[in-house]
Amino acid sequence: MKDNPNKNYKRILVTGALPYANGPIHLGHLAGAYLPADVYVRYQRLKKRDVLFICGTDEHGVPIAIAAEKEGITPQQLVDRYWADHLDTFTRFGVSFDNFSRTSAPIHHETARAFFKVIYDRDFLVERTIQQFYCESCNRFLADRFVEGECPRCHHAGARGDQCESCGSSLEQTELIKPYCKVCGHTPVLRQTKHLFLKLNEFQEKLVNWLDGKKEWKENVLNYCRGWFNEGLGERAVTRDLSWGINVPVEGYEDKVIYVWFEAPIGYVSATKEWADKKGQPDLWKEYWLSDDTKLVHFIGKDNIVFHAVIWPAMLMGHGEFVLPADIPANEFLNLQGEKLSTSRNYAVWLGEYLSRFPADPLRYYLASVAPETKDSDFNWQDFQGRNNSELADILGNLINRTLTFARKQFDAQVPQRGPLDALDQEMVRLLAEAPAKIGDLLEGYELRKATAAIIDVARFANKYFNDQEPWRSSRDNREKCATTINLCIHAARTLAVLMAPLLPFSAEKLWAMLGHSDSVHDQPWDGCGARVLPAGHALGQEQILFTKIEDSQIEPELERLRKALAAMRGEPIEEPKPPALETKPRISYDEFAKVDLRLARVVKAEKVEKADKLLKLELEVAGEPRTIIAGVAKHYQPEELVGKMIVIVANLEPAKIRGVESNGMLLAAEDGQGRMAILSPQGPIDSGAKVK
Ligand code: 2FM
Ligand code: ZN
Repeated sequence: MKDNPNKNYKRILVTGALPYANGPIHLGHLAGAYLPADVYVRYQRLKKRDVLFICGTDEHGVPIAIAAEKEGITPQQLVDRYWADHLDTFTRFGVSFDNFSRTSAPIHHETARAFFKVIYDRDFLVERTIQQFYCESCNRFLADRFVEGECPRCHHAGARGDQCESCGSSLEQTELIKPYCKVCGHTPVLRQTKHLFLKLNEFQEKLVNWLDGKKEWKENVLNYCRGWFNEGLGERAVTRDLSWGINVPVEGYEDKVIYVWFEAPIGYVSATKEWADKKGQPDLWKEYWLSDDTKLVHFIGKDNIVFHAVIWPAMLMGHGEFVLPADIPANEFLNLQGEKLSTSRNYAVWLGEYLSRFPADPLRYYLASVAPETKDSDFNWQDFQGRNNSELADILGNLINRTLTFARKQFDAQVPQRGPLDALDQEMVRLLAEAPAKIGDLLEGYELRKATAAIIDVARFANKYFNDQEPWRSSRDNREKCATTINLCIHAARTLAVLMAPLLPFSAEKLWAMLGHSDSVHDQPWDGCGARVLPAGHALGQEQILFTKIEDSQIEPELERLRKALAAMRGEPIEEPKPPALETKPRISYDEFAKVDLRLARVVKAEKVEKADKLLKLELEVAGEPRTIIAGVAKHYQPEELVGKMIVIVANLEPAKIRGVESNGMLLAAEDGQGRMAILSPQGPIDSGAKVK
C-alpha cells in the first residue's frame, strides 16, 4: 500500500467547478469534473474521513446576460431555471454534493465583496484607464463577449472579445478586426473607462515556489502553469462595465461589477458558509477554510486550470487567511463520436435527456472507464453499449445473478456454511481481502480509469472462480464444496457492493438489499470490506436484475441525432441513412443447398476444452443417438447455459479431430459485425433429430 496522502490532513474539502447557469449539463461536464469528484468523495466517506463536497452555479458574466437578453427574460430568471435544472440532473446522476449553492445568493455577494475589499485594502489592485468598445445603440460598454469580430490571428469571423474559439488565442477586444456589438450588430466606438487590475505579477515568485512543492500534481496542470510563468504574469482587470453581477465595493466603482472569474471561485467559500448555516452551525465553515490541516481539492476541466492553479491561489495568497489548494486534478476534454463537443450547435449529449432514457450507473461506469485523465478521450455510443452489455451485464451482473439464484435454489436463499478451503478458494479469499487497499490507492490518486478496471477485474475473477469450481456439479456429489463455493461467491458479491459503491451508487445499494441488508451500503466501512463475511444462515434478499442490456434500437436514435447535428454544423445536407448493401456469396442451386443435412440436436452435456479458451465440447442427442461436437462458442456461452438447449447442427459434415477430440458435426450460430454471437435454436416444442429446411 502507498503512503497515506491524507496523513497531514484532518479534513478534506472537495469542490466541483461551478457550472455556468446558462445551459444544461452535458457529458463533457461530468467526465471532466463532477464524476471524478463524486467518486473520490464517496470513497472518502466510506473511508470515514471528514469530507465535504461543495458546488453551485456560476451565475454572473456576459454569456448569461446575453442569453437572458436573447430569451427576453431577466438574468435572474434564467439562472433560477438553470440552478434548479442542474441540481435536479446532478442528483439523478448520483452526484452527492453536500451543498449546491449559487453565486447570485446574498451570502456569496457579501463574501465576494468582503474578499475583494481585503485584496483592495492590501494594495494588490491598481487603477488603470483603458480604451474600451462602447455601443452607442445599446448605450453600454461592451465587456468581454459582448463584442465580436474577425480574429487578428486566424481571421475566423465571429471571434469573441476575450478569445477566439477557432484558434484558441486569448485576445484583447481592441485587436478585433471589424468589431460589432453582439446584441444589435452596430459597430462600437472606443471610449475611455477605468478599471481595477489585480497585480498578478507581484505573486509570480511566490506562485512558482509554491507549485514547485507540488511534484505529485498531474503533469498537464503543472505544464500549463509553467507556460503562464514563462510568458510572465501581468496585471489583469478584475472589474467590468456591466449591470449583471456583484457591485464593486470601492468608491468610484459603484456602477461596475466584479469580473466573474474573480468572484466565482470565492463561491466555494460562500457555498461552504451556506452549508454551515443550513446545519445551524454558522462558524463551521471556518474549520474548512481557515486551517492548514484541510486538504482542499478542486476538480475541474482543463479550460479552468489557469484560474484555479494560478489566479485563485494568488488571490488566496493576497487575502492571506484561507487555505491554498492541496491538489487540482484537472481532466482533459471529452469528445463525442470522434468530434469536438459544441454546446451552441447542440452537438452534445445532455445529461437530462440521457437520464430520461437510460439509468445513471452505466454512464458513470462508461465515463469512468474512458475518463480523459491524461489526454482527450471519446464518448462513443456503441462503445458505451458494448461495455454496458459485456462488462456490467455479462460480468458483474451475471456473477451476482448466478450466485444468488444458485443460493436460492440450493441453499434456501441463505448463506451456506463454508467448509475447508482448497487452493482456488484461498486465492479468491486473498484477492477479496487485498482489493480494498489496492482500489483505494488508485482512487486516492485520482486514477479513476484504473480503479474502474480493477473493480470489474474482481468480478471477472469471481466469475471464473464460479466456473472453475463448478458448483452445479458439486451440488450433486460434494455438498460441502458446493456450499463453500457459493459462500465465497456471496462474499465476493458483498465485497463488490462496497467496492463499487463510489462508482455505481445506485446498483451498489440495490445489490446491498439483494444480499439481505436493510441499512445502506454507503454507510459501510471501506477498510476491511474484503475480509468481512456474512455469517452462515444469513437470509438473502430478493434477487433482481442489476444491469439491463442496451439494444441497438436504443442507441440508433442517439446516433442519428448527432449525425444530423454534425451535418448542420458543417453545413452539409442531411441525408437519411441507407442500410449497408448486403454482400452475399455467389448464388447456389436448391440441389446444392439440399446436400446439407441440418438437424435439431439436444445438448446433454457441455464442458470446456482444456487449454482452448474458445472451445466447448458438447455431448448431443440426435433422435436418440449420441454425438459429440466441438464448438467455438466458449467466449460467448458458459457450458451450463447450454445444457438442455435444442440447437441446429450440420449432421452430415465430415468428422474432424479438434484438440484430440473427434467432432462429428457443426452447430449453427450467427455472428454480427460487433463481435456478438448467438446460437440458433427452434422457437417451439419439437423433437431432436427433426430436419431443418
Ligand atoms: O468554466 C466554467 O464552467 C466556469 N463556470 C467554472 C467556474 S469554477 C469556479 F471558479 F467557480
Ligand atoms: Zn449594441
